[in-house]
Amino acid sequence: MERIKLFNEDNLELMRKLPEESIDLIYCDILYGTGRNFGEYQDLKPVRSIIEDHYVPRIKEMYRLLKPTGSIYIHCDWHINHWIRIILDELFGYERCVNEIIWCYTGPGVNNQKNYSRKHDNIYLYSKSNKYTFNTQDIKVPVSEDTLKKFETGGSGFKGKKADFSKGKLLEDWWYLAPTARFKNETGLYPTQKSIQLMERVIRASSNEGDTVADFYMGGGTTAVVCEKLNRNFIGCDINVKAIDVTKKRLVSF
Ligand SMILES: C[S@@+](CC[C@H](N)C(=O)[O-])C[C@H]1O[C@@H](n2cnc3c(N)ncnc32)[C@H](O)[C@@H]1O
Repeated sequence: MERIKLFNEDNLELMRKLPEESIDLIYCDILYGTGRNFGEYQDLKPVRSIIEDHYVPRIKEMYRLLKPTGSIYIHCDWHINHWIRIILDELFGYERCVNEIIWCYTGPGVNNQKNYSRKHDNIYLYSKSNKYTFNTQDIKVPVSEDTLKKFETGGSGFKGKKADFSKGKLLEDWWYLAPTARFKNETGLYPTQKSIQLMERVIRASSNEGDTVADFYMGGGTTAVVCEKLNRNFIGCDINVKAIDVTKKRLVSF
């Protein structure tokens, strides 16, 4: 079997042709509903009926395609996250919401605006059942000397259990990671491109070597590059042929 498969078509048409329960992990950095033209693609307008017409049939297909042990990450922001969350609750079940991950970053804001500078995205992680892949050990983070000392000198641990930080602590559900533009060797390939660092976290946590990962809003193929690196099979889809070209080039030079 070919490890990496790329498709240049509407993701709904592709998904309808794929066999059910065949995918371990779906990550989609979707259309955010900004109404903007990003050069390579036109975003949807932030109108609830437009958002539901686009996403309900597609997220239904994603549910069908996931294996019972599979999970899905839907990456969006404040424009439509509330409507997306309701669609996910209705199609996967409220109790299948594993996490709302907040990816936060910093950057120059526009001074004369009448709002706080918007510097976070929302990533919804849902599982298909209560038995899903989650590699806790692969996403542990080192604990600072200060925290270690605090726990050694009378810290209470969690629910009365003594905390063992020898292998690091469990990663929080907020991720402070630099935006892609700060990584000079990987930026500028595609608008709204996500970073390899971000995708490595998602793929390590929620899939294993040899698993099949899909990204149906693939863009510049960051998910594809990370799947190649981490020995996952990959299905990528984008309606824009430029996205397929960029991804192919990145895979060759990887
Ligand atoms: C937010 S971008 C993805 C960026 C990507 N995560 C990266 O790192 O480069 C969304 C992508 O979805 C694609 N897209 C939009 N509607 C689509 C559809 N119906 N089927 C397939 N791809 C679609 C757009 O062409 C665009 O490349």
